[in-house]
Order: sequence, then structure tokens, then C-alpha cells
Amino acid sequence: MSVETISDPRQMQQRMLAARREGQRIAFVPTMGYLHEGHLSLLREGRKRGDLLVLSIFVNPTQFGPSEDLDSYPRDLERDTQLATEAMVDVVYLPDNASMYPPGYGTWVEVDQSLTNTLCGRSRPGHFRGVTTVVAKLFQIVQPDVALFGSKDFQQLAVLRRMSEDLNFPIEIVGMPIVREADGLAMSSRNVYLDAEQRQRALSLHKGLQLARKLVAEGESGCRVLIEKVRELITQAAGAEIDYIQVCHEQTLADMVEVDRHAVMLLAVRFGKTRLIDNHHLMEEN
Ligand code: PAF
Repeated sequence: MSVETISDPRQMQQRMLAARREGQRIAFVPTMGYLHEGHLSLLREGRKRGDLLVLSIFVNPTQFGPSEDLDSYPRDLERDTQLATEAMVDVVYLPDNASMYPPGYGTWVEVDQSLTNTLCGRSRPGHFRGVTTVVAKLFQIVQPDVALFGSKDFQQLAVLRRMSEDLNFPIEIVGMPIVREADGLAMSSRNVYLDAEQRQRALSLHKGLQLARKLVAEGESGCRVLIEKVRELITQAAGAEIDYIQVCHEQTLADMVEVDRHAVMLLAVRFGKTRLIDNHHLMEEN
């Protein structure tokens, strides 16, 4: 049996309201599709936390810059629907551009620049405004009790937590651990862009994070030293163009000088046209 799919926002709202009236707890996983094991881990957790599991698939144009990969972003709705069925999703919400951003659309949700103009926000101006706007809209339409996001997009998670708290969304935001390939590469829909050589060189991100964690475990606590060591390692991978390597506080995303248990190292590195991100806490998480 195939999963229930809805494209119209009003119909979706009615469906969700009816579920809530029946006392169902709604767990929501928003995605841009091209599902991989990272998304499936969110769906598995969502299945445990809700009576009704909702997945949305929408490649949101407002979070892509003019020279970014909106048109080439990988899409495979048939496979995604099959995976959603296997993951026991109850409803797949599939809005289109016209229903999300109809002519005359004019409302934007923006989180403070201290969180959105740093890290990815610096090289992707407007990106987080697009993310927060679409997620706020999805929250209004789905009205979930709990929403699950991957922590590979660490900054996105911090921004969405801030938005949800500031706008009083009665939604529990759950960040799930990064899911990695067997060799350590963080799973991402964009990994398909990498050719075989770039795929190999992309392992330098995970190796860099492991090196930083090892140095911290051995007693190094200076963020500048750690960043330089990781920069040296990643630069050895031919073709790696570093966008940023930063050590930030997990909540405020402010740059840190000395490592403590709140410190997260975040990386963004380009290989050709493909921009990869990754991150890790630098001390053992408790
Ligand atoms: O992480 C993503 O896939 C997207 O940024 C999200 C949260 C679905 C918003 O479009």
C-alpha cells in the first residue's frame, strides 16, 4: 500500500487538525527529498515519538542563492515515496512553489544576524531567511508536536531552535546525530555530485574533526591551534577549497578561544562545485 500524499496546504491543514482532534501526536520530518540514511534515522525516531508521522518534501527555492544548485538539486520522488512507505510514514506533504510562494507573497521570518550571518550565512547570504521562512510556514501547516532535524546542518538547527523559541511554536525541536558512511563521510544529498577522486578527498573533513578531537583529548585547548592543524590537514587534499573552519559555542555560535564542553568545530569545504559541511563537538558529549 502506498503512502498518503497531500499537496494542497489547506487540505493538509485540515488533515492535521482532524488528527489533532482525535488526540494524535504529530511527529514531523521536513526535508528537501532525495532521502538518504540520515533522513531515515529522523523518520525512525519520529515514528517512535508520534502517533502520526509526517514527512514533507519541498526543494525550497528561497534558501538557494542565485548561483547555487537549485535547478540541479537531486530529486527522485518515486524512490522517496517508496522509502517513506517503508519507513511507515503516514502522510507525505508535497507542496509546490505556487502554493508555498503564491504571487504577492510577502512575509519573511528572520532570526538575529548573530546566528545567521556567521559560518554558512556568510557565504550564503539570505540562506537562513529562506530556511526559517519555509520551516515557519511548514510548522503552521503541519502543526506538529515534535519536529526532527539532522545535526549535520548544525547552524540550521541552532537557528531553528531560536526561531521556534522566539515565536512560541509549541513544538519540541529534536536534533539527531549525524549519520556517516562507513568511511566517515557525513551523509548528504549533495554527495552524489562528487566524482570518485573528490569523494576520497572529502574524507578530509571527517579526518580533520577526528584530529581536532584527538588533540583536545591530549590536552590542547587553544581554538586557533586546533583550527590551524585542521586547516593543514584539509589543505593536503588536492582541490579542497576551505570556506570556513571555526570553533563555536553550540548555542550562540559565537567563536570560542578555549575549548570547553560547549565547543563545536564546524567546517565547510568546497570540492569543485560541491560544498560540504560537517561538525563535531570537541569534547565528549555527556
Ligand atoms: O535541511 C533541509 O533539508 C532544509 O533546509 C529544510 C529544513 C527542509 C528546509 O527547507
